[in-house]
Amino acid sequence: MSMRTDYCGELRKENIGQSVEICGWTNRRRDHGGVIFLDMRDKRGIVQVVINPDNNDFALAETIRNEFVLKITGEVIARADNLINPKLDTGEIEIVANKIEILNTSKPVPFQIDAVDTSEEVRLKYRYLDLRTNVMQQRMRLRSKVTHFMREFMDNNDFLDIETPFLTKATPEGARDYLVPSRTYPGEFFALPQSPQLFKQLLMMSGFERYYQIVKCFRDEDLRADRQPEFTQLDVETSFMSEGEIMSMMEEMTRGLFKEVIEVDLGDKFPTITYNDAMSTYGVDRPDMRIPMKLVCVNEIMKGVDFNVFSGPASADDSRVAALKIPGGASISRKDIDKYTKYVSIYGAKGLAYIKLNEEGPASPILKFLGDDVTNQIIEMTDAKTGDIIFFGADKIKIVNEALGNLREQIAKDLDLYTCKWAPIWVIDFPMFDQNEDGSLSAIHHPFTAPSVDAKTLEATAATALSRAYDLVINGSEVGGGSIRIHQVEMQQTVLKLLGISDEEAKDKFGFLLDALEYGCPPHGGMAFGLDRLVMIMTGSDSIRDVIAFPKTQTAACLLTSAPAAVPNKVLRELSVKVSLPEKDS
Ligand code: AMO
Ligand code: AMP
Repeated sequence: MSMRTDYCGELRKENIGQSVEICGWTNRRRDHGGVIFLDMRDKRGIVQVVINPDNNDFALAETIRNEFVLKITGEVIARADNLINPKLDTGEIEIVANKIEILNTSKPVPFQIDAVDTSEEVRLKYRYLDLRTNVMQQRMRLRSKVTHFMREFMDNNDFLDIETPFLTKATPEGARDYLVPSRTYPGEFFALPQSPQLFKQLLMMSGFERYYQIVKCFRDEDLRADRQPEFTQLDVETSFMSEGEIMSMMEEMTRGLFKEVIEVDLGDKFPTITYNDAMSTYGVDRPDMRIPMKLVCVNEIMKGVDFNVFSGPASADDSRVAALKIPGGASISRKDIDKYTKYVSIYGAKGLAYIKLNEEGPASPILKFLGDDVTNQIIEMTDAKTGDIIFFGADKIKIVNEALGNLREQIAKDLDLYTCKWAPIWVIDFPMFDQNEDGSLSAIHHPFTAPSVDAKTLEATAATALSRAYDLVINGSEVGGGSIRIHQVEMQQTVLKLLGISDEEAKDKFGFLLDALEYGCPPHGGMAFGLDRLVMIMTGSDSIRDVIAFPKTQTAACLLTSAPAAVPNKVLRELSVKVSLPEKDS
């Protein structure tokens, strides 16, 4: 026999007159002139229970505190018109209790469930209590709907769900590895996968043709609001499909997902932008297309100005001068401009010059250096109107792009300058490589991504060659990325060589992949979605920590379990591991 007849949150007017049994937590107890009111909560919501003084269990009810777990038997009655609570789905009714059972007590909780101002530290330490809050319950429910939809879509499209190992060799995705010492091979380590990249490629070589997995990935990297040391991907790989076909199938999945789970129409065909255009126009490779403002290149007209800060970068090949017009921005105060100047300095910008277009005309500390002609040209190029402000960045290209690209997003947020709610976009034509300061190359996507040219051309034009990679960006968040892979061993060797990986090192690290490429590897490609990021933007959360049941802090620790932790020497000895801590600065 079940413990309850109904869920608290589901009782309605239609249930009036019924005798019910409910189970749940005491969200709040209130005493009103000899009558006790309990807000009882279960996974479906909250209902009010009334305990009258003549109830046999009244004395017991007086001992009930918040978060006690109860079973209540009672009768559903209508609330008087003036007592209807429109904020509750169950607000038209209440339950008059006949019988109360305390199934468990609770210590006083460290924070009121559903209090809005609880610090994240406390929330993470008592995560099991934080997860009781309505908002966390809703987020977890939505997350589960998302994975359900993904599985259904992938299954319907003939993808096989295949698991890949966690105890494995390093998979290079640009982060540090989490290592696990091997007891049976003293001195040797497994790496936790940064992604299933190599295994999913091997599965294509094994002839499965379509694979997917909802899978944990592990990366020891600097954490941010949208990065966790362990996170989840919807990981996909296919054989015999072009990038166009893969992108359009993944787009269909994404569109269906938003429609089904949050009733959002992402539009018919997602636009595409090249990496170069994204960088020069928006300063970032994940442009937030809800924001209309663009970076305008003003190098040409700044070359001749009598202002070194601008004329220098305007003439140098590795630098740029860019203008960013903010509509209505003339009202930004001096104090806020100082705040934004400090903000761009995080990205290395040495200042943040501006021109305000006031009623009386342009105003700026740098007008005297620019002169009327240049000022007017800039106003024309940026299509600025009275009431606007134009910000400038002048420096190395990377610094200007990062500074103004992020400033654009920050100001849009501060002044609510979005022109739509949802803006997906594909970023394509990524370069194969990033050139490091010392001239060496590193892979922009990963070393298994196919270039869009043949091996010979690639060797001759490595620094500028493009790859067959694609990223999906929604509202300025990179929610997924993938590529067509290299399926010929010579090309893979060329790319590893360009990355400065010797034959010996390549054999040691990826020998199994290089071997497999030689046994009839089909052309293949795929993509991985950041599930946490998708759920973050679908729920409007500020951080992926808010959509992960048990996340880590920004410093990669778990406040709930106190992991990571030291282990006894005996365990270390078994693993042949010796700990040697760096000496503390005195
Ligand atoms: P990539 O490294 O771009 O590609 O990762 C794919 C997506 O995973 C998400 N993501 C993260 N989410 C949370 N925390 C992190 N630390 C984190 N790192 C990445 C992002 C990103 O778009 N194997 C390739 C995919 C492929 O080529 O098929 C890969 O892992 O949303
Ligand atoms: P200064 O001549 O250094 O006082 O700078 C004059 C104005 O130019 C100030 O508003 C600075 O914030 C701004 N500025 C200085 N360096 C840069 C730079 N590299 N890019 C953009 N603006 C700058």
